[in-house]
Amino acid sequence: MLAVLLIYTTAVLTVAAQMNLTPLGNATQSSLHYSGKPQNAIEPPDSNKWSFDKCTHTSYGRTKAWWMFTFSFGYAYITDIKIYYREHFAYRMDGFKIYVTNTSTIPPDGYLCYEDPDPGLPNITQTIPCFQLGKYVIYYDTKGDGTYGTWGPTVELCYVVIKECPPSYYGNLCQSRCPVNCSGPCDLETGQCTDGCINGRFGETCELDAQCFTDSKMTNCTPEIYQLNPLSGPRGGGTILTISGKYIGSVNDSISIDISGVRCHNVTVGKPHFNGGATFTIRGEGFYNVEKITVERVDKHCDVLEDTSVVCKTPQNRRNQPNNQTVHVHFDDLTLPVNVEYVEDPTFEKFPVVYEYDKESSIQIKGRNILSGARLEDYRIHVGLDGSCLLTDIDMQLITCFPPKSVPRTNKTDLNTVHVIVDVGNIKAYIGDLHYKVDINTLAITVGIMTAALITAVVISVFAVIIIRKKKKRTIQEFEIELMTREEMIREASRKGDYFFL
Ligand SMILES: *[C@@H]1O[C@H](CO)[C@@H](O)[C@H](O)[C@H]1NC(C)=O
Ligand SMILES: *[C@@H]1O[C@H](CO)[C@@H](O)[C@H](O)[C@H]1NC(C)=O
Ligand SMILES: *[C@@H]1O[C@H](CO)[C@@H](O)[C@H](O)[C@H]1NC(C)=O
Ligand SMILES: *[C@@H]1O[C@H](CO)[C@@H](O)[C@H](O)[C@H]1NC(C)=O
Ligand SMILES: *[C@@H]1O[C@H](CO)[C@@H](O)[C@H](O)[C@H]1NC(C)=O
Ligand SMILES: *[C@@H]1O[C@H](CO)[C@@H](O)[C@H](O)[C@H]1NC(C)=O
Ligand SMILES: *[C@@H]1O[C@H](CO)[C@@H](O)[C@H](O)[C@H]1NC(C)=O
Ligand SMILES: *[C@@H]1O[C@H](CO)[C@@H](O)[C@H](O)[C@H]1NC(C)=O
Repeated sequence: MLAVLLIYTTAVLTVAAQMNLTPLGNATQSSLHYSGKPQNAIEPPDSNKWSFDKCTHTSYGRTKAWWMFTFSFGYAYITDIKIYYREHFAYRMDGFKIYVTNTSTIPPDGYLCYEDPDPGLPNITQTIPCFQLGKYVIYYDTKGDGTYGTWGPTVELCYVVIKECPPSYYGNLCQSRCPVNCSGPCDLETGQCTDGCINGRFGETCELDAQCFTDSKMTNCTPEIYQLNPLSGPRGGGTILTISGKYIGSVNDSISIDISGVRCHNVTVGKPHFNGGATFTIRGEGFYNVEKITVERVDKHCDVLEDTSVVCKTPQNRRNQPNNQTVHVHFDDLTLPVNVEYVEDPTFEKFPVVYEYDKESSIQIKGRNILSGARLEDYRIHVGLDGSCLLTDIDMQLITCFPPKSVPRTNKTDLNTVHVIVDVGNIKAYIGDLHYKVDINTLAITVGIMTAALITAVVISVFAVIIIRKKKKRTIQEFEIELMTREEMIREASRKGDYFFL
């Protein structure tokens, strides 16, 4: 299994969905022009398209115009307000203001969230952040529309969205939970308890126990330490300790702890680092003084790079164990727990058939979880015995790379076929075979050589035939001569009455 090392933080990042509050209330406005009623702005659609039954419309010729939203349930934790104004009518919106208030008085008396600045016309669709606790949201305009002196301001809102944090959340995205001992909600920006504490606590976030802390925040109680992490550190010192317990004083108190007479400070665990296997770096001090640094279930000792940093390999995740695990690193006989998150191993698809490679293009290797635990630089793609594929692109499902242009060495019988192996962490996956196409030039040369050979062969055989023929002819001639000679001899003999041949 590949492993990713995580630096755990205490913050839990849950982004609570912000809710649109407009369905939970009702709207009013300064006056009504035809059917441009105030509710039109809280009913869909969310668009700037105007008509009397989709947008609001207040009467002309007034000195002020307003639209007000009232929450049916009292207070709400508003985070932002989005408005859609009538299209092409930005000049009527010019100079508008948005308030959050606790009273319905006009002119508004409360928090001014936004005032359209001069010069220039406002955008007809705007999101206005406004972190406030309040009962009313008021769109307010006292500026005339500027076209006809007497028309005065008008409100033509087509849609309004008012967002809030759910109770007991705070932060820009409502991502943080209010302290548990707050009585009720907390400040939307800082998370401080606005309505006091419960459980006999006090302090801005109700973190302090009244029994033990006076107003000067000095502890009256004897500290109780539940846990010390790590319980020990390298001999040379250099360990940052996490202490949990009760009455340990405020966060910034300096607490010093000595282990076996050595002051501990500064050990952090570095980011994951892959290089042929999942490794991680531990930084601290005094590592040269440690004889042996090991990780549980890993045979190889960690490499001490320098006095302040050491690189260790992560152990294999045990079967049926959760993916988040604490791995213990041993410094001689001292132990440091390190959190490791194991992720799904990448898997790769085999080439369905031998990959015909044209020596030009890139090849693609498909898979899953390709980047879940590893990075581009952790991958090696072996082509044949001594080639490697040059990675150009990588994502979760696909690796793109360029194999070498000339055929690498191979252990296959066909010299133009090589294997492709993906090498990452402890994984070596055989993907399939790559066949280097025999290119045109080689083909031409081969054909040339073969033609030449053929011609030579033909020429040679022709010569051979000629020579053989010549030889035959000569033999025949010799035979004929001999025959004639013998004939001659016989004739001669018969003439002389010699019966020697009869
Ligand atoms: C909103 O107020 C109007 C006028 O008072 C009323 O007719 C309407 O029913 C109210 N709507 C809701 C959803 O309460
Ligand atoms: C409305 O009242 C609440 C409770 O008193 C207060 O926290 C809040 O700041 C007030 N809102 C405005 C806009 O004044
Ligand atoms: C209008 O919108 C544009 C682009 O979203 C933004 O840059 C500009 O600041 C906005 N103007 C006003 C007055 O809000
Ligand atoms: C909240 O109060 C209870 C009771 O005093 C206490 O046990 C708990 O630790 C407090 N929680 C926090 C986060 O302070
Ligand atoms: C602790 O120190 C930090 C930085 O020095 C400071 O921002 C913070 O307010 C301090 N906290 C307390 C409770 O004193
Ligand atoms: C702890 O580490 C920080 C940052 O590396 C360094 O500035 C500081 O001096 C170290 N503290 C000690 C006591 O060595
Ligand atoms: C492991 O821890 C990380 C970081 O805290 C978290 O995001 C993740 O969900 C955890 N995974 C499991 C399986 O618990
Ligand atoms: C060729 O080499 C690969 C990788 O080293 C190996 O997996 C494969 O078994 C070898 N094939 C033969 C026929 O030796």
